[in-house]
Amino acid sequence: MIFRPFLCIGHRGAKGHAPENTLASIRKALDLGAHCVEIDVHMVDGELVVIHDERLERRTNGFGSIHDYKFHDLRSLDAGESEIIPTLREIFQTLNHRAGVNIELKGAGTAEPVARLISDKLSKGWNQDHILVSSFSQAELTRFHELMPDIKIGRLVQSTSLLQRIENELSDCFSLHVSADLVSVRLITAVHAQNKRIYVFTVNEPNEIFRLRTMGVDGVFTDYPDRVFRVTDATRSSLWWA
Ligand code: G3P
Ligand code: MG
Repeated sequence: MIFRPFLCIGHRGAKGHAPENTLASIRKALDLGAHCVEIDVHMVDGELVVIHDERLERRTNGFGSIHDYKFHDLRSLDAGESEIIPTLREIFQTLNHRAGVNIELKGAGTAEPVARLISDKLSKGWNQDHILVSSFSQAELTRFHELMPDIKIGRLVQSTSLLQRIENELSDCFSLHVSADLVSVRLITAVHAQNKRIYVFTVNEPNEIFRLRTMGVDGVFTDYPDRVFRVTDATRSSLWWA
């Protein structure tokens, strides 16, 4: 069993403490010492925006699809506690090198604009080791990897059938990101045998965080980054990605 330092990934920032995928949520994750924040991106009206759903009702005071909006109008919505829907560029600015970022390519057509933005950030001093790009969409991930083969990519999986097909073929991936119900010691061993990382979403119960750490997973996505430091040997922040 391989035991690396445990990675605390703030899910949608620190969703348990602040409105998800907002700059307030990112700041909270930083305050709590998360090593990395995960955020979801879509392309709307030529801009990379950070929001989980394509529809607005669940997390904003808007209605309908994000794609029916102009960027300017999306930005006038309330994403919770008077926060606005941020851009990916604003996420980088808020992080300001204090934690890594896991960009989840949620929407279609995000691979190319995300690659362009990362190139720009690398040219301005961002360390490529602190960026991880993931997706449930193999097509987006493949396209991104063609454009930026040196940036780490993670494959997201939440179905058993898909997992059975791909668990021994992670090839270009740095990591496998699986839902908590799919984790087993056998899977962890198979992933580590390929020298890949396994990160688990979304894990909020302290006992569950502890159990997964003991099983040997490499990190968790959590809405409550503070809990990781309470129940595991992980140490707060300092930028690293083992
Ligand atoms: O990237 C981990 C997790 O965020 C994937 O699921 O639905 O929360 O984006 P979801
Ligand atoms: Mg996500």
